[in-house]
Amino acid sequence: MCDDCLIILKLGGSVITKKDATEPTLNHKNLDRISKEISESSYDKLVIVHGAGSFGHPFAQKYGIGNEITSTSELARKKLGFSLIQNSVKNLNSKVCEYLRIHGVFSVSIQPSSFVLTKNKRIYSANIDLINKYLDSGFVPVIYGDVVLDEDQSIKMAVLSGDQIIKYLAEHLNPERVILGSDVDGIYTKDPKKYPDAELVKLVSSRAQAESMIELMSSKETVDVTGGMEGKLRELLELADLGVESEIINANKVNLIKEAINGDEIIGTLIKRRL
Ligand code: ADP
Ligand code: IPE
Repeated sequence: MCDDCLIILKLGGSVITKKDATEPTLNHKNLDRISKEISESSYDKLVIVHGAGSFGHPFAQKYGIGNEITSTSELARKKLGFSLIQNSVKNLNSKVCEYLRIHGVFSVSIQPSSFVLTKNKRIYSANIDLINKYLDSGFVPVIYGDVVLDEDQSIKMAVLSGDQIIKYLAEHLNPERVILGSDVDGIYTKDPKKYPDAELVKLVSSRAQAESMIELMSSKETVDVTGGMEGKLRELLELADLGVESEIINANKVNLIKEAINGDEIIGTLIKRRL
């Protein structure tokens, strides 16, 4: 392990919430265990990014955040949805920070909707000086999937995924490692929850391989408004182009988050740098 190195860790909404629930529902058990694992692991600097799960996706879908706005009544409805989602994911973040703190991690909440702007759903303005300041001061910034204002006037608002945040942070903070904890072992040849014969892809080592996997996944139904596993691989492919390696692991499995932070070799999908 190198000195003063940064790890960026994503906790998927599928892990910290009951993602299939129709109401926002926390997965207390996982959150408690994972917070403990983080507190017991060794790192110099850590940024945690978490997803929204049932605190964000059902509402984002219902209010069509990010879809074209065609009337003033629709705009008003979307603003209501924006306000509701912002509040809901803030509540989730507050819980995540609380669990981490209880286990002794110096978590600080960073709210994307108050410092990020997108243009056509991609981050184009975000001042991350403060995140660096918190890191230098020994805190663990906790950022999350949120709704943000979009410069594109036909949509005005966008859903910002934790996966896109990871890509942006990695681009600007130069992490040693990026770890994404989800509820499956990694990327499979097809959805492992639907197809028992799906096989785990342990290594994504070329752009061509990643692109054919994305194409395969895009022909299937997506699971959430930010594109599910396909959206994740798209962001990680961009990361690889920037020279940053990333790994997807199963955060539902006891101790894997801890082992991944510690740099142990574990089962998962490794997306090699510079594909
Ligand atoms: P998270 O909430 O952890 O960020 P997502 O819910 O966005 O993750 O994506 C993970 C889900 O993607 C898994 O639960 C799995 O059912 C689904 N999925 C669909 N296709 C695949 C695939 N080819 N490999 C792995 N998971 C897949
Ligand atoms: C989604 O963030 C944000 C909202 C729906 C507001 P993510 O896309 O990172 O969430 P998960 O991890 O898939 O649940």
